[in-house]
This record gives sequence, C-alpha cells and structure tokens, in this order.
Amino acid sequence: MKVLLTGGAGYIGSHTAVALCGAGHEAVLFDNFSNSRRDVVERLERIVGHRVAVVEGDVRDTGLLQRVLRDQEIGAVIHFAGLKSVGESAEKPLEYYTNNLQGTLSLLAAMRATGVDTLVFSSSATVYGEPEYLPLDEAHPTSATNPYGRTKLQIEEILADVGRADAALKIACLRYFNPVGAHESGLIGESPNGIPNNLMPYIAQVAAGKLTHLNVFGADYDTPDGTGVRDYIHVVDLAEGHLAALEYLAEHGPGDYTFNLGTGHGTSVLQLADAFAEASGKAIPRKVAPRRPGDVAACYAKTEKARDELGWTAKRGLAEMCESTWRFQTQTLNQGTGA
Ligand code: NAD
Ligand code: UFG
Repeated sequence: MKVLLTGGAGYIGSHTAVALCGAGHEAVLFDNFSNSRRDVVERLERIVGHRVAVVEGDVRDTGLLQRVLRDQEIGAVIHFAGLKSVGESAEKPLEYYTNNLQGTLSLLAAMRATGVDTLVFSSSATVYGEPEYLPLDEAHPTSATNPYGRTKLQIEEILADVGRADAALKIACLRYFNPVGAHESGLIGESPNGIPNNLMPYIAQVAAGKLTHLNVFGADYDTPDGTGVRDYIHVVDLAEGHLAALEYLAEHGPGDYTFNLGTGHGTSVLQLADAFAEASGKAIPRKVAPRRPGDVAACYAKTEKARDELGWTAKRGLAEMCESTWRFQTQTLNQGTGA
C-alpha cells in the first residue's frame, strides 16, 4: 500500500517510514521541516536502500494535500505532523491549536475530497491526565492539563465525530507512552532543538559531555525510588505498532479504534540513568531538583488490547533503547548531522 506520512521526516515518522518500506509498503513523506532536517531523508534512504518520495508542505494547505493524495494514489494516511512540546504549548497556545487542530481538519477535508478513508493518528498518553489507577487502560477517563494535551484530546473527539458521520472511515488513534531510542543503524533518531525537555535525550547529552549533569525532577514521589516512573517504548517497536494498526484497519473495516502503544513496564528516572550509564560506559552525574510542575508520579500502559486485537507487543528492552540512543548520539548527532 502507498501510505502518506504527514510529519514523516520527524522522529517517529522517519522510523515508521523505515518499518513501512521494510514490510513492502511505499512511504510518501509530507513535512514542512519546522522540526526536522531535510538531510534526514538521505539517511533514511541509506537505511531502506532506495529513494523515498518527499513533499515539502504544510498540512494546513488542503489544496496541496488533495493533489498529493490524488496524484500519488495514496491508500492510507498516518498523521504525525504537529507541535509536541508541553511547556511550549502553554506559552504559544495559538500555534498549537492552529498547527494541530487546523492541520487535522485540513487533512480530513483533503481525505474526504479524494476518497482516502484510512487514517492512523498519533495520540498520546497525555490524554489520560492524572492517573486514577494504573496501569492505564483505554477506558481510563481522559482530561487535559495543557494546550498540547487538549489538542490531542480534541482531535480524538473530532475523529470520533467524523467517523460517526462517515460510515466508510477507518480510524485508529494510537496513544503513545514515552517513545525513546533510535534505529539500530545510528542514522536516524531523536534530535531536539536546544536543551532537551525530555529525559532520554537529556541523559544522552550528559553522557556526551554536552551537559554537566542530570536534574532529577523530584525524588519524593510515591514510587519505589521516589523518582518519576514512565513507560519508555523503543521507537522501532512503536513504528511496528503503526504497521499493525494499518493491517487491523484493512481487516476490520470502518470504525474509530483506540489503542495504547506502550510496554506495560514502568521505569524510574534513576533506573533509566543507570541503564544509560551501563549502555554508554559513561557516568551520568545527577542532582535532585524540585518537581517539574504538571508531572505525574507514575504513568504506564495496560497493553492487552493492542496485544489481543492488533497482535502487537513491544519487544525491545531498556538496554536496547539506551544503546541505540547512544549509537545515534555518537555516530550522527556528535558529527553535527542530527535528524
Ligand atoms: P517531531 O517533531 O520529530 O515530528 C513531527 C514532524 O511534523 C516534524 O518533522 C515537523 O517538521 C512536522 N510538522 C509539524 N507541523 C507541521 C505542519 N503544520 N505541516 C507539516 N509538517 C509539520 O515529533 P515526533 O516525536 O516524531 O512526534 C510525532 C507525533 O507523535 C506528534 O503528533 C506528537 O504529538 C506525537 N507524540 C509524540 C510523543 C513523543 O514523546 N515524541 C509522545 C506522544 C505523541
Ligand atoms: N525528568 C527529569 N529530568 C529531566 C527531564 C525529565 O527528571 O531533565 C523526569 C520527569 O520529571 C519525568 C520523567 O523524567 O518523571 C519523564 O519525563 P519526559 O519529559 O521525558 O516525559 P513526560 O512523561 O513528562 O512526557 C512525555 C512527552 C509528552 C507526552 C507524555 C505522555 O514529552 O509529550 O510523555 O505521553 F504527553
């Protein structure tokens, strides 16, 4: 199948493009490169061993999307494009609403105009808000505490409405937990601008000597070692989850389906720092800092629905997540050619 990946040059999109090509599908990337570099495409092509089609454009440009969907004879869309920083979303809510919401509405209009009926959407575990119980299953109540989370929640609601109104639409909302790691080649991975907000890229830069130490945001949570617990999932496992979702939609037909993509295992900040030190052979100096506002103590997935219905489970462990991140850091980022 020919699949359009909006935001396909980004962190998760590029890994999903590799997985799609590996499974014999054809990937067409659609990206405005607002948070990715053009040379990621060459590195991606080195991995898959052939050219990959790329369209530079903004998802809010409905006319362009329509032309691409029609001319390229696209069979399904995976919608990654959007802004994703929780902190930035509180400072620039309008940018988040226009990019994420308007972008999705534009895509839906283009899909309707061209008769493309299959959509996989990048949602997030952030839609669960403060956990009322753990592990988080798909029926857990949803809420949002910041504009980024609200865009994900609102998009899920829009998709449910559009799905109810159009009996042909096949929609899968994938709620990602904490994607980390990189492709085993070390050619593509996560490359945040400036000082990373997220734990794994921050630790990688401490190991690389670019940052002096890790600030542990709170060591007094009600968790086994007092630090925050998350469900880190290898980005290649996550990418394979998108393949499983496309296959599921093709088999099961129209509907609006929701799946957690996580491992089901919680890992604390200190456990991740220790695993990274082990994988990289570098010390990760750390200092306890105040809690980060808005953080929850623990968040991890119940994964049975994805296992039973999609036939998908995460296979890669913490060591592989850290080793691949370190390989990307040393082979690509330290050479100044990040994703
Ligand atoms: P990313 O920033 O690396 O990738 C997003 C891509 O979309 C970038 O290449 C960017 O240039 C592009 N883009 C942004 N706005 C666009 C627009 N208006 N038109 C066209 N292209 C646009 O982010 P990622 O980590 O790969 O995340 C992909 C998706 O997954 C996002 O929707 C994000 O919210 C969601 N998600 C990510 C995480 C995470 O921790 N990385 C967790 C949960 C959900
Ligand atoms: N942390 C530190 N020091 C740091 C960075 C993070 O101690 O320098 C801690 C946090 O307090 C938290 C854990 O590491 O306990 C993980 O933090 P991240 O920022 O890596 O990830 P979050 O779980 O806070 O958020 C991520 C994405 C969100 C998404 C959410 C749920 O960034 O976009 O997962 O999917 F909404």
